[in-house]
Parts: sequence; C-alpha cells; structure tokens
Amino acid sequence: MADVFEKLVKDGGPIGQHMDRAHGYFAFPKLEGELGPHMTFRGKEMIVWSLNNYLGLVNHPEVRDIDTKAAAMYGMGNPMGARMMSGNTLKHDELERVISAFVQREDTMLLNFGYQGIMSCIDALVNRRDVIVYDAESHACIVDGVRLHMGHRYAFKHNDIADCEKQLLRATELAAKNGGGILLITEGVFGMDGEQGILKEIVALKEKYEFRILIDDAHGFGYMGPTGAGADEAQGCQEGIDLYFSTFVKSMGSIGAFISGPKGVIKYLRYNTRSQIFAKSLPLLIVEGMLKRMEMVKTMPELREKLWHNVRKLQTGLKDRGFDIGNTSSPVTPIYMKGDVPEATAMVMDLRENYHIFCSIVVYPIIPKGDIIYRIIPTAAHSDEDIELTLQAFSETKKKLDAGEYKVDKIPDMAEAM
Ligand SMILES: Cc1ncc(COP(=O)(O)O)c(C=O)c1O
Repeated sequence: MADVFEKLVKDGGPIGQHMDRAHGYFAFPKLEGELGPHMTFRGKEMIVWSLNNYLGLVNHPEVRDIDTKAAAMYGMGNPMGARMMSGNTLKHDELERVISAFVQREDTMLLNFGYQGIMSCIDALVNRRDVIVYDAESHACIVDGVRLHMGHRYAFKHNDIADCEKQLLRATELAAKNGGGILLITEGVFGMDGEQGILKEIVALKEKYEFRILIDDAHGFGYMGPTGAGADEAQGCQEGIDLYFSTFVKSMGSIGAFISGPKGVIKYLRYNTRSQIFAKSLPLLIVEGMLKRMEMVKTMPELREKLWHNVRKLQTGLKDRGFDIGNTSSPVTPIYMKGDVPEATAMVMDLRENYHIFCSIVVYPIIPKGDIIYRIIPTAAHSDEDIELTLQAFSETKKKLDAGEYKVDKIPDMAEAM
C-alpha cells in the first residue's frame, strides 16, 4: 500500500515538477505596486502585459473611489450567508437587472466565483439523459463542469465547425435514444489563443439540430461588440446564445461572476446551483463596485476605443516585424515561437532583467514540446511608448533566440525559498 502523500512530494505534478527552480520567478511571481501597466518585480519597474485589465478599470480613480466608499459602508462580510438563506439584498437584485439589460437577456444570476459558478451551472443544467457537446480547448472550469456530468459528452476540435456538426449529429442520435437534450458549450473569446468562438456558425446549426448554447465570455464581456456586451454582440448572434456567462475578474477588475438567460432557466438555477445555494453570497462592497463599473462601461466608450487603438498598434507592429500571432481576433495576443523550455525561460529572464518587460509564457506540458507562447494582454491603460518599447524588446530577443543565444541545459535556477 502507498502513502497518498508520497507521490505528491516526489514528482510535483505536470507544472509543479519545475517548482524547485521556478518558484517566485517563472511561477508565482510577485508583482508589486499599483495595479496597471507599470509595476515592480524584484525591485525593477516593468511594463506589465499579464493582467486581463482590458478596459484599464482596475485602478481607475472612480473605481478606486467607489470600492473605498463601499468598503467603508459595508465592510467585507455583509451580507452573511447564502442568498437563499440570509444573504440576499436589493442591491444584488439591482445588479442582476442592470446586467440583464446590458447583455439583452431576460434574467441574470450573480455567482460568487466564475470557476465554481459555471461548473455548478453546468451540473445543474443537465441530467444523465442529456448530452454535452463542447469545444476541446475550453477553459478548465468548463472541462470540470463537464466532468460532473453523469451522461455522455463529445468534444469537438477547437473552433472547427465541421467537427462541431459531426459531434452534434452523434449527440442528436444519442439524446433521441435516451430521451434527453443537448447542451453545447464554448467560449466567446478564448483566453489562450485570442480567437473568438465560432458563435455565429454554431448558432446557424440550430436550423438543422435541436440544442441549447452556453458560452463563457470571461474574456469578451465589457469591451467586445458595439456596446461592449460581449463576443456574441460582436458577431451579431445574441439571440441564438441561450445562456451567457462571464466573470467580473477581467474587464471589470473585480471578483464574482454571472449567468444570464431565459427567466425560467435562471429561476431554476437560483434554486439548484449547488455552489451558490451552499456558499456565501457576493459581498455588497463587490456588488456596489460592480454597479459603478457597469455605469462606466455604458457611458465611457472611450475606454473601449483606447483598448482597440492599443490592440491594433501592438498586433500590427508584431506582424510587421514578422512575428506569428496566430488568428487572434481579440486583445489577447499570443506570440508563437520555437524553442525548448529552458530556452524559453532564459528568454523570459532576458526580457525581464534587461528590457523590463513582464509577460507570461506558456510551454510544455500545457502546449506541445518545442512550442513557446508569449502571451501579451494590451489594455486601455497602456501607452504608445509601452508598446514601442515592447516591440523593440521582442525584435531584439527574437534575434538572440534564433541565433541560439538562449541555449541552456536546464531552467535557470531562480527559485526563492518556499
Ligand atoms: C474563460 C474563463 N472562464 C472562467 C474563469 C474563472 O473565473 P473566476 O476567476 O471568476 O473564477 C476564467 C479565469 O479567471 C477564465 O479565463
């Protein structure tokens, strides 16, 4: 018999295997100072490209002001208990009405966290006779929600409409046999490659197949589309998306989440979503802060305009310099390069230590061996100068990568004590 702890301590897991060298630098880095495009890392000022602060709201003076006032007014604990028991307030209802109107859905339910929230909604929406069809590159929270499902599930190749239809056909046969229905789940904007989900094409399949659609638009809410209502607004297919989910942790620079859709379904979810029924409701200070943020999103189109200006400048600059940024159609900007894990980490060190650029890297085992993705998130708070310095830094470091200057045997040992 084995001790359950033994294997954990021995191998650390797929990412944790590098922790002895990476902790505190490549993983779990500590950015300090005011949140935004300029922060301090290990005593050096960096241009930061790692925050999903798309609209630059997280540190906007009006946002800081309302958050401070709301904290003084309510404290952290108010209200106590789950909404079903003792944690419901008029402000929670008001925020739900505001969001429903904004995303053009009948009703909305607030969720205290995005990850648990959508997992638990998926769990509540389907029973064992139903079939789930979902994009194979969906966020972990969708994958975990699908894992809770007791019935069948079919993944379709990422954003591949032909494969999506193939899986829908299989799902239709099975659901018809079992007397169940089909829930299709995908994302509005994929946070890794920046591609939008093929929402319009999927909605068009409703003419041939019977199914409902749930999208996770964590990365699209607040800035995509003419009013910022999300990726489905941008693609002109809001009516075909039955359930719209997003979190407050990206564009809104806060915490919490929501799901919007038809009244009857949201009513059911209020009484059947386990992560909400059995957990504390969203604190009032968050709700009050969100009401202000929603007002700002509706009345300050200049935030979206500045974001898109920066996105265009950065992405055009990268393409002009010959960088491969894939098929992004959102601010999320992946830069695809070739190299092994130690090389990628050596390049990141050079970018941080000598060029003062802080961005995230994604390497094996999250993506195939030999691929490196640098992930850059432009925001409305970045300046033209931040972009120019970053383009310059990437041009210079790419030359060094291609010349083999970052070849090292292993990941540089940058770990701090754990
Ligand atoms: C696509 C997507 N869905 C859901 C979540 C989880 O949301 P939260 O951080 O509110 O739990 C994230 C990350 O935050 C995400 O990127």
